[in-house]
Amino acid sequence: MEKLIREHRRRFGDFDAIDFVDESEVKRLRDQIDVDVPMELHWTWNYGSEVEELRNLYEKGKVAQWNAETDLEWATPCSKDEWLMNPEASMLAQVTKLMGKDEATQKAAMFDELSFILSQLLHGEQAALQLCGQLTNVCDKMDEKWYAASQVIDEARHIEALSKFLQRKLGTIYPIGATLKTLLDILLEADTAQKKTLGMQCLFEGMAVGIMDMMRRECRNPLMTEMIHRIEQDESRHAAFGVLMMRRVVREAEPEQMAGMEDWAFSILEALNANQQLDMLRILCPKYGIEPEVVVQMALSLPNFAELNSMAYMHTVVPNLLNLGLITDRTRDQWKSLGMMWTKADAEAAQAS
Ligand SMILES: [Fe+2]
Ligand SMILES: [Fe+2]
Repeated sequence: MEKLIREHRRRFGDFDAIDFVDESEVKRLRDQIDVDVPMELHWTWNYGSEVEELRNLYEKGKVAQWNAETDLEWATPCSKDEWLMNPEASMLAQVTKLMGKDEATQKAAMFDELSFILSQLLHGEQAALQLCGQLTNVCDKMDEKWYAASQVIDEARHIEALSKFLQRKLGTIYPIGATLKTLLDILLEADTAQKKTLGMQCLFEGMAVGIMDMMRRECRNPLMTEMIHRIEQDESRHAAFGVLMMRRVVREAEPEQMAGMEDWAFSILEALNANQQLDMLRILCPKYGIEPEVVVQMALSLPNFAELNSMAYMHTVVPNLLNLGLITDRTRDQWKSLGMMWTKADAEAAQAS
């Protein structure tokens, strides 16, 4: 199976990590703002509904619209002096605490980590907006075009909410991480509707729901909680769109095509997982006198690494892929060995041993 971003791989024991250490290479990737997209476009003359469940999802989306400017309490204070999240949910708050740094430093480290993560979600939202715009062209049924179009306005609203939150409340928008930029470009450049849908709607939307759900549960600031909650509700509709689209694709796929999609999904998520936050750690760690490698080494050697690491994956994306038949016995052990899959049975086995 093809491993993505081979030229930036390095070993941490058994773990094959992606680490961009060369700053000029990172800058080159960020400066690449023009992307060549082979674009298909299909007209349809059937204006009636052909896919009932998609039409229902579209109706749901219409009712659930909200206004990022007026539906959020922008006057809510938000500062470095408060715990914006449960300190245990912040990697950098934990590490600075272990180093014996005072509480103000731990809070500042969490603030920076949160700013970085929300910035990456913001850049991901921009990719979702652009990809979904592509789907209005490449999809061939009117129900699909309508739903994709309604998602375009959702994504614009997410960009609005997150960019305003970062600018007004946290003060910094961090640039996109090199691993994320590479993977999003792969999705945007993909040459078939099927790859675009699987990649963005199932993999990235599914990951976004998992990450946002974890953040919302740990969040202690009411404005941030409300914003994430509202975005997350939209994202779960987007992930559902992905599943509904892919369900029709897999129903008609030959075994060979199924294997191709399974490999592709794994290689995208493997690369995302392989970064282990190194793109963030390289930027933020020097400020706190921390070595990025030490943090990753520590995380990888935790006895419950697989369980912790799998949380974002097991929330939505892995169950959806299992459901679609896109994780089979052929790749299951690989997902497990990288800490991207952790089931109840694994927990019971770990307890028994
Ligand atoms: Fe979004
Ligand atoms: Fe989305």
